[in-house]
Amino acid sequence: MSYLDWDDRMAIGHEVIDAQHRQLVTLINGIAEATARRGGRQEIGALIRAFSDYAQEHFSTEQDLMDSTDYPEYFLQLSSHEDCTTSALSFYRDYINGLDVSVEDFLSFVAGWFKGHTLGVDQTLRKYLKKKASPDPLLR
Ligand SMILES: [Fe+2]
Ligand SMILES: [Fe+2]
Repeated sequence: MSYLDWDDRMAIGHEVIDAQHRQLVTLINGIAEATARRGGRQEIGALIRAFSDYAQEHFSTEQDLMDSTDYPEYFLQLSSHEDCTTSALSFYRDYINGLDVSVEDFLSFVAGWFKGHTLGVDQTLRKYLKKKASPDPLLR
């Protein structure tokens, strides 16, 4: 059983973005798996860093897509992406510095953030891209 199950509603109908969303789920599950078998701080730290780096790569792909399609809620997305990156990097720093921080709490935050974001604002982007791809001929 995985920590976070993939749900098709987490997709937005864009090949690259959807592959990245799936990979983020895999990375979150990797942190959970290493935590469950009590992996060392170095191993788990590296997995958290890998998640954080990949999330930044994904956000930048998504933001480029929004930019190139004149997405009206760009800044709403940007600030939510920044919340995730800031929290992940700050947790990573505390964790590798040996502070008494809980990976379970971090996982719960990050899985909750991911679900809320992909099922929420990313779906608004999905609808926008769909409309943009097949504009109603009656709309001017
Ligand atoms: Fe996304
Ligand atoms: Fe997003």
